[in-house]
Amino acid sequence: MHALLRIAVVPLLLSGCLQTKTATSNAASDVVSSDAADVALAADVSEQALVAVTAPASWLTHPENTPKAIHTTWQHDPATTLTVQWTTAATELAGYTPKVWFGPEAEAGKDGATQQFGAARFATGTGEMYYQTIIDMNDLAPDAPHYITWTVELTGLTPDTPYVFRAGTWSDFKAGAFTAPDLSDVQHVRTGLAKGSRQKITAVLAGDSRNGADGIRANAQRLAAIDASLWVFNGDFNETGVQEQWDDWFDAMQPILSKHPLMPVQGNHEFFPPTYYGQFALPVEAGLAPEYKEHAWSLTIGNLHLIGLDSTQDSVVQDQSTWLEADLQAARADKDIDWIIAMMHHPAYSSCTNHGSTDRVQKYWVPLFEKYDVDLIFAGHDHDYERSWPWRANKKVDAGPVYVVAGGFYADGYTNGKDVWTATSSHGNKSNYVVLNVEGKSLSFTAFSGDGSETLDTYSLKK
Ligand SMILES: [Fe+2]
Ligand SMILES: [Fe+2]
Repeated sequence: MHALLRIAVVPLLLSGCLQTKTATSNAASDVVSSDAADVALAADVSEQALVAVTAPASWLTHPENTPKAIHTTWQHDPATTLTVQWTTAATELAGYTPKVWFGPEAEAGKDGATQQFGAARFATGTGEMYYQTIIDMNDLAPDAPHYITWTVELTGLTPDTPYVFRAGTWSDFKAGAFTAPDLSDVQHVRTGLAKGSRQKITAVLAGDSRNGADGIRANAQRLAAIDASLWVFNGDFNETGVQEQWDDWFDAMQPILSKHPLMPVQGNHEFFPPTYYGQFALPVEAGLAPEYKEHAWSLTIGNLHLIGLDSTQDSVVQDQSTWLEADLQAARADKDIDWIIAMMHHPAYSSCTNHGSTDRVQKYWVPLFEKYDVDLIFAGHDHDYERSWPWRANKKVDAGPVYVVAGGFYADGYTNGKDVWTATSSHGNKSNYVVLNVEGKSLSFTAFSGDGSETLDTYSLKK
């Protein structure tokens, strides 16, 4: 069924019904080509000189330009950069310069209408117009409004520091006030630990929401309160990847995304890859072929090296192997890195009867996970929870890669199975998520039922 849907979608994408254009930051009336690398830190003298922002009567001049789907990722060093993305309708954009106003929370104040910025700072970026709110895959609604996702990268940040920011635009900043603002509410985020730090890192691992946006909504405030350094998401965000489903997912996730960067990989239900890759700015790895830009990535936070991989097709899995080996080799040789976690959508080992193990992952990546002692391999696709024994050369070992399947972030559950590698799996078809802690030479994680009421598994490792 998946393959048929993909075939149906591709000609529509190629027909030009979905437009892919970029708009420069300050000439939105002329939609012209621009390079994402144009993203630059900018500040002018008048804005630098001011230390306080007086809230206007409304943060919005053009309500249709209310920033939506605000979220953050990392394209570069998590300790000193942060990429902010949001969406607006592609109307009333004359003079729309995508800007993020940001500052350390200690200087800018935590909340409230008046943000005291010790040193006013803002960054500008670019926009990519690529989608409409499509009703279904066979009706591209050519008259539906177009939307733009804006991307701004903040640089020069201080490691391990709480920041606040507002995303959107304004035309000027005079007498302590924004003029013509279309700005988001204040968002909070903390920069990552500097590479080599052995302080505590907490990550929430989740995936497979599919039709579960309302399940996310019911739990989002509680989940957002988890003091996490980041979230990682192993794919299958929604059913088909049409934009109205993405909009629903972003809306449900907003309490979480307004506080935590999220690093994703593509699942098999991202039927419109441009809507996935357009909405998540990810590291661009020099060792990957251009067609795999953002499909695989890695970053280091403190002493944790995190790798994201695209497991969606045989050739794609094979083609990432050379880059993966080079990345693993470098990480294992790096004295700053103690822990390596790899994430992909399709599990190497799963006893769940819905999908089960993935041959291509076993064939091309498991030998590398074993050779370079990857500590934890995190996948989804099957909507259940399963953890393997430390597993090497198809045998239970004392120390070796551990494989976790944690799908079902409020998608309908699948039935658990059991196989020779299975350490634990008998939890019923519950939705789930995992909270992982890395601190120095210790790694531990706990899997929870989706409503948080039940502990499905706990596990820890020491080096
Ligand atoms: Fe799934
Ligand atoms: Fe899947």
